[in-house]
Amino acid sequence: MSKQTYTDLLLKAKKFYDDYKTLFPPFEPLKLFELNKKQTKVLDKLFKRLKNTYPTFHPNYIGQMIKPPADISSISYFFAMLYNSNNHALDGGPETSFLEKEVIAELAKMIGYKKFIGHLTSGGTMANLEGLWISKLSTRNGYFAICENAHYTHTRLSKVLDFKYELIKMNERGKIDLNDLEKKLKSGKIRTVVATLGTTGFGALDEIHEILKLKSKYNFRLHIDAAYGGFFKILANNNSSLIEKKIFDKIHFADSIVIDPHKHGLQPYGCGSILFKDPLIGKFYKHDSPYTYFTSKELHLGEVTLECSRPGASAAALWATIKSFSLTSKNGFYKILELTRKAAIKFYSLLINSEIFTPVIYPELDIVNYFPAAKTTSKINFLSEKLFNELMNNKNYPIYVSKYRLKAQFFKKLFPEIQTDSSEVIILRSVLMKPEHYFYIDDIFKEMRNVFLKKVLQ
Ligand SMILES: Cc1ncc(COP(=O)(O)O)c(C=O)c1O
Repeated sequence: MSKQTYTDLLLKAKKFYDDYKTLFPPFEPLKLFELNKKQTKVLDKLFKRLKNTYPTFHPNYIGQMIKPPADISSISYFFAMLYNSNNHALDGGPETSFLEKEVIAELAKMIGYKKFIGHLTSGGTMANLEGLWISKLSTRNGYFAICENAHYTHTRLSKVLDFKYELIKMNERGKIDLNDLEKKLKSGKIRTVVATLGTTGFGALDEIHEILKLKSKYNFRLHIDAAYGGFFKILANNNSSLIEKKIFDKIHFADSIVIDPHKHGLQPYGCGSILFKDPLIGKFYKHDSPYTYFTSKELHLGEVTLECSRPGASAAALWATIKSFSLTSKNGFYKILELTRKAAIKFYSLLINSEIFTPVIYPELDIVNYFPAAKTTSKINFLSEKLFNELMNNKNYPIYVSKYRLKAQFFKKLFPEIQTDSSEVIILRSVLMKPEHYFYIDDIFKEMRNVFLKKVLQ
């Protein structure tokens, strides 16, 4: 979008809001809140301070899971934020609640849920908290099974909820080890299995189709943490050869699913979601507080959310984004996600064909892990640390990657020829979640190689 159009739209949003105000009896707002010189100076300071941020908008940022929101999303967010509606109840601003119900229905359709109940959350952590909480209540305190490679939020949430868990090993592809899972299911203690679609470290996909076979044998609840990988269901829905379709095809048999629009949904932070297959779980949210009342019989989202106040602006931004970038057509999210997958595959092939870097696991999504070749793990640790810093400080062409610590035992299984003389192995991790990565990854790789040979190996 041109700068002109962006500015025009922001002004239009403000004008719309000012016009809306004229629909009500006039009043004099206090001068106190009018933007004045002092505030303009404060803003200038803020603008400068915000420059102290990693350039996550740039293709050279291949560090953490951070993706810039689409313009349509930030403009809609700004517009809706002016109204400051609260999706706790229809009384807090009906329209954004309707928008939230629409986007949840779109996400449910993408997953394949016919019946469902769900809502937006502030992020993946809150969404998983709700998923685990409902699992605990539905299974009368049975244990949940969680892979050692799952996001740390689950084991931490287990303390919050006093919900005990069994840790399941990860296999050599970074996925939940199905043999270990079945062994532990046999004890009868586990009543919920948490699977991940898109692990934070590797972007690995737990084998949902196999876990579902175990579900019919052992009858547990299945909660899928697809905070990162959920939107890749669009590739599977369109039969893309770039995704392991069979893993995604039956996810609608899961009891609850978390998907973060603030990861791959082009949204600014503060936008996660939880969807449940059975609308009846709504009963667990029931409350009766003397200061809450609902002015209609229609479902108020506050009746089925743990967070009370929630920004209507998040729903508005996601709604406008989904309407602009369809979840179904091949020209919307599909195209973007396809490019991120292609970028990861290209990067993997550059790494595996280089004599200086070794990729760890073939990427299933758009996250690639690798390390500089060396004979011992302590040397790998040294080289990875040095490369990480040199890349970031590379004048005129900085590259931002992230680091990932692997247990030496796991590393040894994959690379027995490398001597393990440290308890952990520091590898590098790149998240190629912007479609532009596909077009820039060759240049980025070339410069990584240069920096390694000229600055790290010296
Ligand atoms: C798989 C997975 N689950 C949960 C989370 C936590 O989500 P959030 O940071 O939105 O709270 C993350 C964050 O990276 C994640 O990758």
